[in-house]
Amino acid sequence: MGEDVNEEVKKTFEGKEVLVTGGLGFVGSNLAAKLVDYGAHVVLLDAMIPGLGGNLFNIEPIRDQVVVNFSDIRDEHSVNYIVRGKDFIFHLAGQNDHVLSLADPFQDIDINIKGSVVLLEACRKFNPTARLVYTGTRGEYGSVAKLPASEDTPINPKGLYELSSLTSQKIFKIYHDNHGIHSATLRLTNIYGERAQMHHSRFGVANWFIRQAIDGETIKVFGNGQILRDFLYVQDCVDAILMAACCEEAYGEVLNVGDDKASSFLELAKIAIEEAGSGNWEFAPFTQERAAQEPGDFYSDISKIQRIVGWEPTTPLREGVKQTIDYYRRNKAEYW
Ligand SMILES: NC(=O)c1ccc[n+]([C@@H]2O[C@H](COP(=O)([O-])OP(=O)(O)OC[C@H]3O[C@@H](n4cnc5c(N)ncnc54)[C@H](O)[C@@H]3O)[C@@H](O)[C@H]2O)c1
Repeated sequence: MGEDVNEEVKKTFEGKEVLVTGGLGFVGSNLAAKLVDYGAHVVLLDAMIPGLGGNLFNIEPIRDQVVVNFSDIRDEHSVNYIVRGKDFIFHLAGQNDHVLSLADPFQDIDINIKGSVVLLEACRKFNPTARLVYTGTRGEYGSVAKLPASEDTPINPKGLYELSSLTSQKIFKIYHDNHGIHSATLRLTNIYGERAQMHHSRFGVANWFIRQAIDGETIKVFGNGQILRDFLYVQDCVDAILMAACCEEAYGEVLNVGDDKASSFLELAKIAIEEAGSGNWEFAPFTQERAAQEPGDFYSDISKIQRIVGWEPTTPLREGVKQTIDYYRRNKAEYW
């Protein structure tokens, strides 16, 4: 992110009232830290759902500079109150456990779809001028025939989590068009980096590889390891979210947030092992549930967000992995 853009974005948030739902989670807490740095008054809403990424330690450096509201996004009374007076609302609260959603689809429907509607209704009634940003997933595309995948790629989500994210994104668009509730929706690729949960491998595969490398374990690379992904460092992702929020032309749009340069899972494993200075890797067969959800190669066409918002990733995979390893080595007790 160039210095000029940085300054402009910084000024936009200075003194602004901002709500981050899912603010104690991985992306939300990194976003909150930058918002505080930019001088925003930040409220974090999070229900700390077990198994997801909420962790109070994520906001340890900004603990005294934010307000934490332990509410559920589905709680109309609480959300109706909390949206009032906010200039920007970043909606990141969500159930994103792809494996769990195979066994229990109701969480996805309830949290991801109903939760978004509760938020949008609250804005319609109590804060129709707020600017909203919703973070969906590249999983909404499913398997794609043409790479890199642009926003008009045919949509064939492979699981309930991905479908709930797509539905939510469409609902944001309906409120944008029909009720004038301004929102930009982003499709995030696989994000990795500091402050993600490290307890299990049901989501966040890149971080899981990094944990195994740090622990000197053998990373299980599914299949032949050649499947491609545009792994994106969380600080680049946060810049994309903030820059999109500051860009008038982004509202009403769907924008990919990823990278048009891809790496294989095997490359990722090797980089994690090299940077950690420990660990090993081996091939392993896909589990049945992973095989059912695996869309194959994916990397994003980011020309739309480059053109409209002026964002592009700046952190090479090796550098992001190095930063991530440093963070978890320093704070292992809080995440293992
Ligand atoms: N991390 C990624 O690679 C990635 C990729 C694509 C999309 N996304 C989307 O970005 C958003 C944030 O993801 P993340 O990686 O930070 O996940 P995360 O699990 O670390 O954070 C989500 C947070 O939302 C909270 N939450 C869940 N349900 C809630 C509810 N009902 N009420 C209030 N809070 C609730 C959780 O407690 C958690 O702290 C999610 O919507 C996710 O689907 C993430």
